[in-house]
Amino acid sequence: MSFDTTAANRLLHRFDDHDSLWLFGYGSLIFKADFPFIERRPATIGGWERRFWQGSHDHRGTPDAPGRVLTLVPQAGAVCDGMAYLITPQVFDHLDHREKNGYLRFTTTLTFDDGGSADGLVYIAMDDNAAWLGPASDRSIVDQIDAASGPSGRNRDYLLDLAAALRALGKHDPHVFALETLLLAPALHPSSEPTEPQ
Ligand code: SIN
Repeated sequence: MSFDTTAANRLLHRFDDHDSLWLFGYGSLIFKADFPFIERRPATIGGWERRFWQGSHDHRGTPDAPGRVLTLVPQAGAVCDGMAYLITPQVFDHLDHREKNGYLRFTTTLTFDDGGSADGLVYIAMDDNAAWLGPASDRSIVDQIDAASGPSGRNRDYLLDLAAALRALGKHDPHVFALETLLLAPALHPSSEPTEPQ
């Protein structure tokens, strides 16, 4: 698969016959809603969990030094918190471009925190996409995030903004919060270790 999934997403259902439809955001789509929406409601989807396993060559990194951003991986029984947006089909022109680095649109059921459910769409980067990085230790994920930067800003701000947004929603994500803690921990330098009195 090429790095650019815009064309693949355009071949998917256009929903042009709909007045509106629901989009589920679990990563930057929670804290950076740079698109028009009719309403938004906190929501969850089942069977998926967040992981910083997707490379970012276009937003939070560069082709030579990619950053790490979120995707979802299947996990039986998991519940992923996020934000649901009611949008018009025209917004996909923007979203397909924004999420072009490996993400494809999938249909899923959204459960709203305040009750009820609806079918909606979610952008997921699967493990066969060209920008996939996959698992790594928390330390190496954080080191890569700390070093990377791209046209949309510093990779560390993606992690910090997401953690802050989840906290504001009253949500806890062990993977995200563990990485945030590691990112914010003071670096250990040999010179800062206590020395024996001479
Ligand atoms: C999402 O936020 O739903 C997709 C991943 C991202 O753009 O960070």
